[in-house]
Amino acid sequence: MCGIVGYAGTSLLAGDDAAASGASARPLEVALGGLKRLEYRGYDSAGVALVGPGSPTAAFAKKAGKLENLVAAVAEQPLPDATAAVGHTRWATHGGPTDVNAHPHLADEGRLAVIHNGIIENFSELRGSLERDGVSFLSDTDTEVAAQLLAREYRTAGDLTAAMAATARQLEGTFTLLAVHADAPETVVGARHDSPLVVGLGEGENFLGSDVAAFVAHTKEALELAQDQIVTITPTSVEVSDFAGNPAEGKRFTVDWDAAAAEKGGFDSFMDKEIHDQPHAVADTLLGRTDSSGRIILDNLRIDESVLRSVDKIIVIACGTAAYAGHVAKYAIEHWCRIPVEVELAHEFRYRDPIVDERTLVVAISQSGETMDTLMAVRHAREQGAKVLAIVNTNGSTIPRESDAVLYTHAGPEIAVASTKAFLAQITAAYILGLYLAQLRGNKFPDEVAQLFDELRDMSRKVQTVIERGEYVRATARSMQAADKVLFLGRHVGYPVAMEGALKLKELAYIHAEGFAAGELKHGPIALIDEGQPVFVVVPSPRGRDQLHSKVVSNIQEIRARGARTLVIAEDGDDVVRQYADEIFWIPQAPSLLQPLLAVVPLQIFAMALAGAKGLDVDQPRNLAKSVTVE
Ligand code: G6P
Repeated sequence: MCGIVGYAGTSLLAGDDAAASGASARPLEVALGGLKRLEYRGYDSAGVALVGPGSPTAAFAKKAGKLENLVAAVAEQPLPDATAAVGHTRWATHGGPTDVNAHPHLADEGRLAVIHNGIIENFSELRGSLERDGVSFLSDTDTEVAAQLLAREYRTAGDLTAAMAATARQLEGTFTLLAVHADAPETVVGARHDSPLVVGLGEGENFLGSDVAAFVAHTKEALELAQDQIVTITPTSVEVSDFAGNPAEGKRFTVDWDAAAAEKGGFDSFMDKEIHDQPHAVADTLLGRTDSSGRIILDNLRIDESVLRSVDKIIVIACGTAAYAGHVAKYAIEHWCRIPVEVELAHEFRYRDPIVDERTLVVAISQSGETMDTLMAVRHAREQGAKVLAIVNTNGSTIPRESDAVLYTHAGPEIAVASTKAFLAQITAAYILGLYLAQLRGNKFPDEVAQLFDELRDMSRKVQTVIERGEYVRATARSMQAADKVLFLGRHVGYPVAMEGALKLKELAYIHAEGFAAGELKHGPIALIDEGQPVFVVVPSPRGRDQLHSKVVSNIQEIRARGARTLVIAEDGDDVVRQYADEIFWIPQAPSLLQPLLAVVPLQIFAMALAGAKGLDVDQPRNLAKSVTVE
């Protein structure tokens, strides 16, 4: 949460219209463009600061509300050409979402500008010490404390990089800080401790960003930083050190996202586009996972095969949508590999003294790779001796860096705050992991693994079919704008789908929604059913085993008898359920364990269409942030 951009580049080097000073409009353009890409990280306020040759102070603008407010302010009162810039989009923690609390925060008589992501826990103590030095504060934020502290250190050190290191050593909590100073108009200095920061490497210009989306339109060459590092960029150099000032190196990587993937591409919203991206997200996540003989190979798995063979328990840790992907993983991995799998919200896992040892494999699932709750749980698991395998979408992020192994999903950039394509990619990756473990541990014969893998490959086409049937879902959603409570039921792998359907509706349409295990209905939730109550039901395949289908059909009859309006997700050809459904959303036939990849899609479309019909912003729902980098 909070998006951060930094840029250093002069027109003389970058080949823009050369001004004698090297200053140009590009730093502002890059900062605003980067903020647009990062706005999903928070949209309580936005701001930029610029420095250029000869400027006596840092020029800045900041506005409460969405980025468009800042863009309008800058259009009305243009900022000067510059050679370096920082930009910030905020998800408020300390201090309300006002203009004054927006970043950047200025110090050193307006010559120094600082932006920040994270929470500085010892800020009141530091503020007291600065106030005793005669410093007065304009805002309620912890960031302004960091800015004033940096100014004090700069007066002593006379060098922005050294001052940043000295500041970072005094801060407790989590932070990424970026600073520009009028004395060093071609420089941006950053520090990171438990909050994200990556470097983009350009020609005659360099970039900093909370994630690669900030600069992927300009360069795909990037540098991953480790924890507790300081980075100083100028148009022609990138220098990394630790907080003690010792030189350090970042790890280079190339971003495999296409810049156009971070655009809406003709859709009304990023969410709509991302729902339509889902067949690719599934297919791309499966690409390159088998060798010529059909055996599954996982390249980035830095965990010894003998360790994976001896694993006696798997714990999946994640938050939000990623946790529901974890629930699907549990059903598949237990069934295929006969290893017990627990699924736990990362924040609960971290603080309950979980039983974990060297024979536990912890699987951390995260789209962003930065969710602080998940990161803390990863660290805790490793401290207890467990191996951690990360299923992550974002290259260069922290969770894969701190894990023993990584299985990247290839969903491409997900910009809408509520997750869609990343969810399908996470489930796909979990299936790959399950099949890999079954192959490695001999739970399945190679031909069985190959057959399941083929069925998995076929899911991308089937997801496409569900999307093509979306108009009926949208029309149903439009007719349900008055709904104030919607229930979702599912059994087996349909249960996490029901929970995800409910989450999407809460996030996007602000409607109270709950997902229940269908079998649990009679133990309480059935009391919620009255005349006309909409209930979505995810129906398992009638071709599946264990009477799951008939049990769910009975549940549908039970709620219908009490007046519920049943909206049913069912497999093509399911003639039994047809007679009990008020509305039916058909999905193609698929193996039972793989059905979530299809069944969730109508629920995503429903939530998006209902929110759209209510005039809500589906990409940026109120109060949320996509990448939650505070605990
Ligand atoms: C936030 C987002 C959710 C997301 C969750 C986990 O709550 O709003 O959409 O599922 O974080 O994020 P991650 O990046 O770890 O998957």
